[in-house]
Amino acid sequence: MCDKNCNPKKLLVYTLDCLLLHLRSNHRSSSLFTFYSGQLHTLMFLRTLLLAAAAVITAAALATVSSPTEELYSCLRNVFTHDEGIALPGEPFYRTWAKRYNLNIPVTPAAVTFPESSQQVAAVVKCAAEHKFPVQAKSGGHGYANHCLGGTDGAVVVDLKHLQQFSMNHTNWQATIGAGTLLGDVTKQLHNAGGRAMSHGTCLQVGSGGHFTIGGLGPTSRQFGASLDHVVEAEVVLANSSIIQASDSENQDVFWAIKGAASGFGIVTEFKVRTEPEPTTAVQYTYTLKFGTWKERAEVFKRWQAHVSAPGLTRKLASTLTVFEYSVAITGTFFGTQEEYDALEMDSQFPGTIGNSIVIQGWLGLVAHWAESLGMDWSDRIPTYFYAKSNAWTPENLMSSETVDKLFEFVTYAPKGTPTWFLLFDLQGGYTSDIPAEATSYAHRDVLIWLQSYTVNPLRPISRTQIEFLDQVNTLVTDNERPYAAYPGYVDPFLEEGAEAYWGANLPRLRRIKADIDPGNVFQNPQSPTPAED
Ligand SMILES: Cc1cc2nc3c(=O)[nH]c(=O)nc-3n(C[C@H](O)[C@H](O)[C@H](O)COP(=O)(O)OP(=O)(O)OC[C@H]3O[C@@H](n4cnc5c(N)ncnc54)[C@H](O)[C@@H]3O)c2cc1C
Ligand SMILES: *[C@@H]1O[C@H](CO)[C@@H](O)[C@H](O)[C@H]1NC(C)=O
Ligand SMILES: *[C@@H]1O[C@H](CO)[C@@H](O)[C@H](O)[C@H]1NC(C)=O
Repeated sequence: MCDKNCNPKKLLVYTLDCLLLHLRSNHRSSSLFTFYSGQLHTLMFLRTLLLAAAAVITAAALATVSSPTEELYSCLRNVFTHDEGIALPGEPFYRTWAKRYNLNIPVTPAAVTFPESSQQVAAVVKCAAEHKFPVQAKSGGHGYANHCLGGTDGAVVVDLKHLQQFSMNHTNWQATIGAGTLLGDVTKQLHNAGGRAMSHGTCLQVGSGGHFTIGGLGPTSRQFGASLDHVVEAEVVLANSSIIQASDSENQDVFWAIKGAASGFGIVTEFKVRTEPEPTTAVQYTYTLKFGTWKERAEVFKRWQAHVSAPGLTRKLASTLTVFEYSVAITGTFFGTQEEYDALEMDSQFPGTIGNSIVIQGWLGLVAHWAESLGMDWSDRIPTYFYAKSNAWTPENLMSSETVDKLFEFVTYAPKGTPTWFLLFDLQGGYTSDIPAEATSYAHRDVLIWLQSYTVNPLRPISRTQIEFLDQVNTLVTDNERPYAAYPGYVDPFLEEGAEAYWGANLPRLRRIKADIDPGNVFQNPQSPTPAED
């Protein structure tokens, strides 16, 4: 097929247009005006004729030759009985449904589809696989690099917004949850079904589909595990479009792969999860150091690192230290009473900071509090330009005192390209570290502290300076070693060998399973595991 640069008809029309434009713009000043206007009419007539001929020829060509894209579209149209099932480029609602969460990464999907059942998900996967289009599911659309839109152009998106079924088994307290359900709705449904809860992150617009299949770390993870540790069974659509059940007793390889790396292995349509009685009383605390010298901020960090790495630290404590342009804040939740909290003597741990704490009664209130105090409204609903990286420490390789000093000196003086950057250090460990690294494809079980670093612009693309700042922070905190690990849920599109950093020692097994169940790489994004070669 010819594109616009080599199509001779278009080139001719273009030349005529240039000539017409030239004549029109010159005719007033020209003494040969009457001659020119005669020519003008002839040229315009010629142009109209040419356009009509071109239209007829194009229509004839379309009727006989159809491209893979057109074949895909006609296959998809057979899946849905109504127009709302598909959004294609050029159509009015396509832009809404193909909206990017991270404006910094341009992506144009080939099609966005809205199946209403697992069978329709399977039929969409069949169309895409047959016509060799990559597929990605979309649940909450809150991935960092727009992987749910394919991550690069030309993917078929399976938007799961219609899959929001919910039920609770009151005998074993396992809940069945449609994979298009957002975390806010998961919380409410579990609460209404008998005061139950599970672990997940604090942003309520995040989708269960992306969250329960990549990790899902939140304030209760030290007690109950990551979201994926709650999953006891899943319904999955595979690359050959079969719909299977995966659990510890059926399709074990698929089950293992979807607990940490699902986007490259299939589409989970439904989860069955274990639940816990919801925590009822909690203390929400904050210790802040505003301004201060970099040495004072470094001191607060060292105290915090010692505090969270103390052997035997209660699992009821969640803690995050955030470094901003002008302050350091330690925030978190203690799942217990005020008296139990006071017994921890937190106030004496962080000299120089200003502390406060409040008791929050009721799980829904607590979850709402987390969502409000995220301090990241930018990231919730409104798309922005941002870049994020992650890094991790185990109890054995925590930062030395010198490295902490270097870090705080660096972030004070380095060019950052924006005042809207921050470093979040999250305490992990606890239950998530009880599970052996090879038990799920999520590999980083030994992590005690996760770092997420962010740089944000509301209105313009992320600059080189901003990216370099986060890169340098990452190199500095690991003493110029390769970062030990990256959290697969904080997708870093510029990370070289991303799959190695995300899945560590579990990558070879993932690639073997991939070769087995998706050798054609139907489910893919720029960083998903590729099939093993034998
Ligand atoms: C504001 C904000 C706060 C966050 N907080 C936390 C946090 O506290 N803890 C934490 O662990 N993470 C957190 N994250 C990261 C979040 O867990 C991941 O970005 C997650 O992948 C988003 O899921 P989603 O369904 O919203 O995203 P989507 O963009 O819809 O999907 C993300 C990826 O998962 C795949 N996927 C989605 N659904 C399915 C499915 N059903 N089957 C197979 N693959 C699927 C997509 O194809 C895509 O590759 C946060 C992210 C944001 C933006
Ligand atoms: C609920 O759980 C019990 C106990 O595990 C089980 O026997 C029963 O079949 C479950 N019910 C449904 C509807 O799945
Ligand atoms: C689809 O793939 C799975 C996993 O490889 C396999 O178990 C199943 O038999 C296949 N189904 C069909 C219909 O080919």
